[in-house]
Amino acid sequence: MMRLIRIIALLPLAGLFIHCNSSKLNNPPEQQFKIGNTTVGIQSVATNLNVPWQIAWGADQQIWYTEQSGSISKVNPETGTTKRLLLLNDVFRDRTSGLLGMTLHPDMKAHPYVFINYSGYSKDKSKVSKVVRYTYNAEKDTLLSPVVFLEYPAWTSHFGARIVIAPDGKVMISTGDGAQHDNAQNVQSPNGKVLRYNLDGSIPTDNPFKGNPVWAWGLRNPQGLVYGNGKLYCSDHGDATDDEVNLIHKGANYGWPFVEGFVDTDKEKLFAKDSMVTAPLKAWTPTIAPAGMAYYSSDKIPELKGNLLLTTLKGNSLRALALDANGEQLVEDVNYFEKVFGRVRSVCVSPAGDVYIATSNRDWNPNAAPAKNDDRIIRIYRLDAKDSDPAAQSAVIAHEKNEGLNKGALLYTNYCASCHKEDGKGIDQTFPALLKSPVVTGDKKLLVHTVMNGRNAMPKFSFIEDKELAVLLTYVRKQFGQGADAVSTEDIKKGRK
Ligand code: HEC
Repeated sequence: MMRLIRIIALLPLAGLFIHCNSSKLNNPPEQQFKIGNTTVGIQSVATNLNVPWQIAWGADQQIWYTEQSGSISKVNPETGTTKRLLLLNDVFRDRTSGLLGMTLHPDMKAHPYVFINYSGYSKDKSKVSKVVRYTYNAEKDTLLSPVVFLEYPAWTSHFGARIVIAPDGKVMISTGDGAQHDNAQNVQSPNGKVLRYNLDGSIPTDNPFKGNPVWAWGLRNPQGLVYGNGKLYCSDHGDATDDEVNLIHKGANYGWPFVEGFVDTDKEKLFAKDSMVTAPLKAWTPTIAPAGMAYYSSDKIPELKGNLLLTTLKGNSLRALALDANGEQLVEDVNYFEKVFGRVRSVCVSPAGDVYIATSNRDWNPNAAPAKNDDRIIRIYRLDAKDSDPAAQSAVIAHEKNEGLNKGALLYTNYCASCHKEDGKGIDQTFPALLKSPVVTGDKKLLVHTVMNGRNAMPKFSFIEDKELAVLLTYVRKQFGQGADAVSTEDIKKGRK
């Protein structure tokens, strides 16, 4: 009796943390697309989230997710019911900082652990990144007993922050370089690395350096980390060029900040002469802003079987990267759902072979006004023939608009719009407006110099060829500089000297 009273007394409280939305798995799909010969349906499983940074499939058949502001919740995809498990009270959330990566131990019965990576405060109130292990208490359905594995320096950007459990039970963590150039090549710094720990937070004796969690280095902002067939893959944001997907090996150096993408410039060759640099499986220029990854091993959507799934932010898509039989090369790269859901941050696959993605349209760098129900966790699932619309459009979206754009506008879209935005208005406090900027309208030399060499958080674009850069900057001056005159190839050549 006492027990019953207690439960009843708790109910209204619990109600505060549980809210239902209308999504149910047996509802008809909101949209249909074709992935090869397979028709897939789209359903919103959770809506109105505050930048869900990580989604992870739980053994309880629910999707666990972090939100950047500091909460860990789960949603039941059958019913759309969400429940908050934990609200952290020491999160430092700014543009890209906050509660980020999370992983659940694959065997929660034996090891009921949930690992998270977030930026918060240390005891002395300085800003730090933390890797913390919580223990899941199934009876209370909450997370308890935090153990801090690692507190490491945090700056204002490049946090990396994915975590996965290796097949051998080790904890693998990708960390960003903090936008500090010296970190990634310094094996004494935990920044710009893949780190490796035991489940209890101790350092494995077979790590490359004794007593050091560093497993691999030379990374910039690795926001994707996943095992596929026993191999570890990692996505990494490049600067102005060369976003990467890497196959991570013990003790390997991926080159940042001296090598971007493949070793192809003279400077890079010089660096690679003295240091073994491991090439990426693939590098993308123009950049796509790669984030979360998953490995698709199900037969449900045969076109995706054996593929790495990679979400992109700037690219606004979900890419499927087919691996060769050894998992050591990418043999195909198909870009799905481009600009259908906006920025995509995280992806997971359920045992049934459904793909779940989380959008990131309310983060610090939106491409447009977010949709009313953003951010969302979305289910992408195979439809039976009887439920399939034979006229469903391909998930490889043909954006004809781009072909109609003139060359300058296209270059601007590829290289500049992710920060300064298509309309040139930028983002307040973060990316200055180019529209009517004196640097754009004024002396061409200053504009060429700024774009060629970068400035603070603005990357340098000297890799763009003279002719293309002239076309690009002519567009910028015409479009945003109140019709200022053209930039010639000669102007660019002069600027290079
Ligand atoms: C990764 C984000 C990013 C990208 C991509 C980017 N910029 Fe910038 N840009 C910035 C930031 C940040 C600043 C401000 C730098 C500072 O604080 O000094 C800036 C400043 C500028 C300025 C000076 C504006 C002023 O009024 O001071 C110009 C001009 C400019 N960018 C042009 C471009 C062009 C052209 C491109 C494409 C080739 C481009 N940027 C790509 C981030 C970016």
